[in-house]
Amino acid sequence: MKIIDGKQVSTSLKEALREQVATFPEKFGRVPHLVVVRVGEDPASVVYVRNKAKACEACGMRNTTIVLPEETSEQALLSQIQELNADETVDGLLVQLPLPKHISEAKVIEAIDHSKDVDGFHPRNVAGLWQKTPHMNPCTPAGIMKLLEAEGVDPKGKRAVVIGRSNIVGLPVAKMLLDANATVTLCHTRTVNLPEITRQAEILVVAAGRAKMVTGDMVSEGVVVIDVGMDRDPETGKLCGDVDFDSVAPKASAITPVPGGVGPMTIACLMENTVACFLNKQGNK
Ligand code: GUN
Repeated sequence: MKIIDGKQVSTSLKEALREQVATFPEKFGRVPHLVVVRVGEDPASVVYVRNKAKACEACGMRNTTIVLPEETSEQALLSQIQELNADETVDGLLVQLPLPKHISEAKVIEAIDHSKDVDGFHPRNVAGLWQKTPHMNPCTPAGIMKLLEAEGVDPKGKRAVVIGRSNIVGLPVAKMLLDANATVTLCHTRTVNLPEITRQAEILVVAAGRAKMVTGDMVSEGVVVIDVGMDRDPETGKLCGDVDFDSVAPKASAITPVPGGVGPMTIACLMENTVACFLNKQGNK
């Protein structure tokens, strides 16, 4: 069994980006600029946003974090987004989710200029993924595909099972696995006889948001397990994934740990998307 080191893969991705970005001042007169907006003080968001800024620094990119109070109105946030959309010095723009309940996430996602949408959440980018037209890939699914590639796991011809049907992970990663010629079963926490299905998996991606829901009896020998969960163990209070690592790992040929698996890859792909938005803009001048 191999523990897939997402931190290591993400570090080498960021190093490659740093080298690429270092050539930009001479070619284009500046480096890419990512703006991250956080509304409120959700503890997980505080950590994620800080890590995004750190990753920009590691890649030699400019970054700005805008923190707005929890009680910011939807209109005020939408106006802030319009201002950043119009700002020529901003290449990538994201609003950290989740947002306070009084703000519509759908409206916010639609408001972001699709050409600056480094999250790949805008309807135009989502459509591009499903219609195979130019688009920005969402970061976590892109990170999962890169991890599989780095581990030498070719999805072609394999049976992949995805648990979770969110717009952010489950649906897009299922589509990307399909496009890589896997045969994909998409299921969720209400799927009847889930263990019967997960035992068929050669690649198992778990993004259900439920601590330790996949146990050793639910997988077959040799499976490659990608755990997208970021949960708290109800017994110990420690960070854990959607996969019960201790019982699943001995049967897996490879498995991502939590933390240190998919998480760092999401941020590395965000950096790639920021560079891509920057380069698209240069190309369109
Ligand atoms: N919250 C959790 N993951 C993400 C992400 O990838 N992007 C944004 N904007 N918010 C998130």
